Amino acid sequence: MDKKTKALIFPEGFFWGAATSSYQVEGANTNNDWWLWEQQDGRIADGQRCALACNHYHLYNQDFDIAKELGHNMHRFSLEWSRIEPKRGEWNQEAVEHYRRVILALKERGMTPAVTLFHFCLPIWVSEMGGFENREIVSLFQRYVTKVCRELGEHINYWFTINEPMVFLYKGYFDKTWPPGKNIGFQFFRIIRHMVQAHNQAYFAIHKISEQFPDKNTYVGLTKNVRIFQPYRGGSILDKLAAKFKDYFFNDYMMAKIFKSSAKTIDFIGLNYYTREFASLDILNPKELFRESRSKRADVTDLGWEIYPFGIYQALVKLKKYGIPIVVAENGLADKEDKKRAKFILDHLVQIHQAIEDGADIIGYLHWSLLDNFEWADGYRARFGLVEVDYQSQQRTIRDSARSYAEICRTNQIII
Ligand code: FCB
Repeated sequence: MDKKTKALIFPEGFFWGAATSSYQVEGANTNNDWWLWEQQDGRIADGQRCALACNHYHLYNQDFDIAKELGHNMHRFSLEWSRIEPKRGEWNQEAVEHYRRVILALKERGMTPAVTLFHFCLPIWVSEMGGFENREIVSLFQRYVTKVCRELGEHINYWFTINEPMVFLYKGYFDKTWPPGKNIGFQFFRIIRHMVQAHNQAYFAIHKISEQFPDKNTYVGLTKNVRIFQPYRGGSILDKLAAKFKDYFFNDYMMAKIFKSSAKTIDFIGLNYYTREFASLDILNPKELFRESRSKRADVTDLGWEIYPFGIYQALVKLKKYGIPIVVAENGLADKEDKKRAKFILDHLVQIHQAIEDGADIIGYLHWSLLDNFEWADGYRARFGLVEVDYQSQQRTIRDSARSYAEICRTNQIII
């Protein structure tokens, strides 16, 4: 090591890896609300359809070989509810067996599986009942979770109930670029309540069933997308208020509800961090407050999201107050040419290491994503993968940044 460089070492047993979600990588998920949604022209920026995605449903062994080669020791992925329960109360055992094979494939390669139960997609039959608007979702979700936990729970230590509830709410009910794409005004508080209840009931169900697996530790959490909000005009009281309001509503409100539940319902938090936003409030146009105002065009990703590594430190410090472990469950960037990814990872890890030094209990880092994949309303143009995917040939190519990240995963340290 050069004299001017130093090594920042991560805690022993730190989890390193990447994350994916079923709809974005599996392919041929034709039984959920996202599939229905994208059938209408104009909803996906690049005019594409999810279709076969990365065909990961069939190529998972090969993809996990790559993750192993890259030194990963954890992999986060989601179960597709619409495959497991294609119709109300009807279980598709073949889908359950598929996920059992997926989980065992990870374990055979020395990777800890981390499972997300709801990552933005609802079975069509659930969305037809009103999805999270309908209180019944709480018991339906609990029943689905109970089924998969009974079947697969013996192999799983880390469960994420819901992925990014506030993003789901914002995209589906405010800017309406995701399903169900409707405005429901103040009713969204009801949806938040249902999401909190669904999470809480899933928490109880998983822990109850896991009593049958006494040799295993079980941790249940969710992922929280935390954004850093700053006033657009530093000197403006209105903009400061706007930033405070957004910070409270987007970052804190729902977490506070979970922590206020009468019993403990969360063991760890998954932090998803991408960027910061500048908030402003125009008295003549107050509705604009709710618009996403991403950046002042500093260093940005292919999607125009500002690259702001210090924000992950701020987010971690924010979550530290809850006093439970945190895993960075998503962090990454759209960077087709792979020009910025290696530095992006390093710069964020420096901040994560600092947060650990400052007392945050951080247990792992999962990059978004293992593979290029279907980025929701942005389609296939956004390339988030450590591994490039040629969607025609389904050929995988490991990006250089993935190799630099592999070195970090293997050595449990960064050199700066
Ligand atoms: C997060 C989502 C994930 C992916 C990344 C880029 O909000 O959880 O599915 O789309 O953004």
